[in-house]
Amino acid sequence: MEMQACPHGPLSGEARPPGDKSISHRALMLAALAVGESRIEGLLEGEDVMATARALGALGVELVRRGPGAWTVHGVGVSGLAEPEEVLDLGNAGTGARLLMGILAGHPFTSFLSGDASLRRRPMARVAEPLRAMGAEILARSGCRLPLAITGTNRLVPIVWRSPVASAQVKSAILLCGLHAPGETTVIEPLPSRDHTERMLAGMGAELRTAPAEGGGVAVTVVGQPELVPQSFTVPADPSSAAFPAVAAAARAGSRIRLAGVGLNPSRTGAYTTLAEMGARIAILDRHREGGEEVGTLEVEGGELAAVDVPAERAPAMIDEYPILFVAAALARGRSRFRGLAELRVKESDRLAAMAEGLRACGVRCGIEGDDLWVEGDGGPPAGGARIDARLDHRIAMSFLVLGGLAREGVRVEGAETIATSFPGFAELMNGLGARIATLAPGGAG
Ligand code: S3P
Repeated sequence: MEMQACPHGPLSGEARPPGDKSISHRALMLAALAVGESRIEGLLEGEDVMATARALGALGVELVRRGPGAWTVHGVGVSGLAEPEEVLDLGNAGTGARLLMGILAGHPFTSFLSGDASLRRRPMARVAEPLRAMGAEILARSGCRLPLAITGTNRLVPIVWRSPVASAQVKSAILLCGLHAPGETTVIEPLPSRDHTERMLAGMGAELRTAPAEGGGVAVTVVGQPELVPQSFTVPADPSSAAFPAVAAAARAGSRIRLAGVGLNPSRTGAYTTLAEMGARIAILDRHREGGEEVGTLEVEGGELAAVDVPAERAPAMIDEYPILFVAAALARGRSRFRGLAELRVKESDRLAAMAEGLRACGVRCGIEGDDLWVEGDGGPPAGGARIDARLDHRIAMSFLVLGGLAREGVRVEGAETIATSFPGFAELMNGLGARIATLAPGGAG
């Protein structure tokens, strides 16, 4: 499906971005491991999360949709899943695949996992190695990629694992596996990544602790074999999704929008720190706690943006927002530098290459130096006018549609259906604020 974004004027109005993708995956999986009925409100009903829901269904969990975003999950208890009769297809969802592997490692049966062409390219060794060390057998394609087979065990060995990358997916997979092991399982990461798994598990009665690790990094420990208490989960709006309208408004003078109910967990808000450093006017209203997470309303006003230098240490707190922040940098005056972006190469696409190529096609000066990207803007709108391939990557698609709205000439995005993985209703939400995004008829000129 091809979409086109035409240049728009100032944005205005209020919207609620869809539910948080990370929290939605976890809410379903953790509810499945609790004993009894959990209720979830505000679940993201994007394709990624629905793939997780289907996989859990195939593993014997009863999930009932009561209404939009409202789900009831009848949990089977830690280690209570049943052998699936079919291949578990996680679609585009790295979080779904990796976290589920952690859970399946603790079940004494064999499961087969696959996904779309993007997920089948992504590295799984970062999760497979610790799970093997705990006792699971994993047979995967070359480069440890999907499809793979995982045979779990009810005789897991708890471990202390030092992960070379700060990755919440790796950390969560190990912690979820640790739930099934006797004793304490610890994962050490170089920098703290998003901590939704820890917060939710603690809320369900599991014992966890986080502390600085000897030799550097952060250690998170879970005590295995808890009985998880079912919960009512309220999923906040996704700060990663909110970043698209936020940048669109911040970069267009005269804009004033409000984005309601957005999750403000400090392990997720690096993009907003960066936008503030760029001079974006973003206020947080009505800040409060909801179900163990901070949420608030973002009020964004448009104005001039300045170049920024983003340190590598901030990467885990804004890992999914780099593509749209590169767009912000293209609208800013001066040369921005984003440091330490190696992980962007192994996301739904190679986001470093995809963004650099796409930005150049839109007339933006930028370059990759090692693991850094610099982007240069003159404070005015970039040329635009390009046709971008989304590469099965929702965030590439949305970033260039935002750029198209801010450029001199619109931008077309081929493969825009991938947006439904994380942000169903993206075009409608953006257009409700004053953007001009349209789906083009197949083969048509639009
Ligand atoms: C996620 C963690 C991040 C992020 C992904 C969702 C999660 O990946 O890019 O979109 O829900 O744990 P890594 O932890 O691998 O960096």
